[in-house]
Amino acid sequence: MKNMTDPKSLTIAIDGPAGSGKSSTAKELARRLGFIWIDTGAMYRAATLWLLRNAVPPREGTILDTALERMNIALESDEGEQRVILNDEDITTLIRDPEISRQVSRFASLPAVRTRMARIQRSMAQKGNSVLEGRDIGTVVCPNAPIKVFLSASLEERAVRRAKELSERYQDVDIELLKRDIHRRDRIDSDREHAPLKPADDAVHIDTTQLTFDEQVEAIIDLVRVYREHQGKGRMEVCDDETK
Ligand code: CDP
Repeated sequence: MKNMTDPKSLTIAIDGPAGSGKSSTAKELARRLGFIWIDTGAMYRAATLWLLRNAVPPREGTILDTALERMNIALESDEGEQRVILNDEDITTLIRDPEISRQVSRFASLPAVRTRMARIQRSMAQKGNSVLEGRDIGTVVCPNAPIKVFLSASLEERAVRRAKELSERYQDVDIELLKRDIHRRDRIDSDREHAPLKPADDAVHIDTTQLTFDEQVEAIIDLVRVYREHQGKGRMEVCDDETK
């Protein structure tokens, strides 16, 4: 198994608001390119589940620090699907619970949680070519990533997509409630002081409202093609910024 740090790893950073298609796009890109897929939102959800289970309030302090020290999060690939492991327990389905969706942004706004997550995410990315998706990948976690994408879509379209996905895989949902939840989460994620949701200055913006899934994946594959044609000219390729 390849497990060593590869200094030539290529990192693709995909950021965007809830339901903009990051996970499905990152998963398909990883499949087509043979890259590691790192769903950082799943990791924040896993941390939220752990902190709720341990009755840790969403504020900085030693209670939070101690709980974070006892938390181990891993992402495992299982026939193209991603399994989320929390201290040896498979919590892949549990983290999609509406209660986790409601609480995650509050825990994700805490610097102690973010610092810990970013460290784990960078060490995952350094294991090989990877696609990381989240809110702060291009700005904080991997600011040197040579390919940065900011995906967006209208709130209406994002709610419709998320409802479809949830009802196919996990649970039926009320679309109006879902829209409110997504909107609320976007606001907390964008307004927070630490690593808010925002495009990196050098990110390519892709509005997927009118695009098919294939078109949005192809748009990013095109960026990879162009990058590879010019590979080595100027920019660093690795996710190596430990300073933030
Ligand atoms: O899939 P969905 O768009 O619903 O969200 P997610 O990617 O699973 O992320 C859940 C939550 O985790 C977000 O609403 C953010 O509060 C937080 N998150 C974050 O703060 N930073 C990231 N890099 C990824 C997620």
